[in-house]
Amino acid sequence: MKHFLDIHKTDPADLRAMIDQAGRMKQARLDRPKGAADDTQPLAGRMVALIFEKPSTRTRVSFDVGVRQMGGETMVLSGSDMQLGHGETIADTARVLSRYVDLIMIRTFDEAVLTEMAEYADVPVINGLTDRTHPCQIMADVMTYEEHRGPISGKKVVWTGDGNNVCASFLHAAGQFGFDLTFTGPAQLDPEADFVGFARSKGSSITIERDAHKAVRDADLVVADTWVSMHDAQSARERRHNMLRPYQVNAALMAQAKPDALFMHCLPAHREEEVTSQVMDGPHSVIWDEAENRLHAQKAIMRWCLGV
Ligand code: CP
Repeated sequence: MKHFLDIHKTDPADLRAMIDQAGRMKQARLDRPKGAADDTQPLAGRMVALIFEKPSTRTRVSFDVGVRQMGGETMVLSGSDMQLGHGETIADTARVLSRYVDLIMIRTFDEAVLTEMAEYADVPVINGLTDRTHPCQIMADVMTYEEHRGPISGKKVVWTGDGNNVCASFLHAAGQFGFDLTFTGPAQLDPEADFVGFARSKGSSITIERDAHKAVRDADLVVADTWVSMHDAQSARERRHNMLRPYQVNAALMAQAKPDALFMHCLPAHREEEVTSQVMDGPHSVIWDEAENRLHAQKAIMRWCLGV
């Protein structure tokens, strides 16, 4: 069973094959007349369940569209509308869904829900985000970096702000794709030692630097994310903003990076908080390509899961 649960749990050769296939599928769509169907329909006759226990725009739409482009069908399910939200166990839900669908994508809070779903499902399960990681996002980010600047291996990525679930998957990717990562943010929001340890165990250089301007010096890629994630208490908003304000990505900070550095943000962004509009809409920013590439990267992930 090929589940896509996390970047560090997936073979680097498979990750590379998915990124390369995503690029080929993107190009094939660009080459065909607008509105024409994909030549290949590898998901024809397949049903994919997309389960959301948290809000989503990009993940929901990009998975739904991606399945349809490949000839499959989707069923978008809200966790609260299912028996899952009313006491049925994850294991029983997984067993039942496996009798109906060919693939399950789930966005949930607790990583244990994802792992239990994968343990008991007879079909592949994809991690569409948990409180700990967001691997589909970072596959799209690696794809985006490489389509603009070539191989990401050996490059310097700087993560600014909160060492959250997206940062965690970036650290996993550092280890698997061979790039270095500097985290700059307040000590209270450092990424978990496990994530840093994985990247270091694979030979990546991981640096923690409290001074954002020093951290960004000579960066190839600067990344920001929201200061208050979906799983953070809204009551902590003001305290987090006060802690994170020195880590805002603005023009002065981007000026420390290499002249051809890219800027990424997984979105949704809070303009003038973690990043200024000047940077989001400026020449370094590739955020719209990054959002588009969720579609292409996830199509490759689904094909890998299903072996089609
Ligand atoms: N980046 C991301 O996962 O976006 P959504 O929350 O809109 O899916």
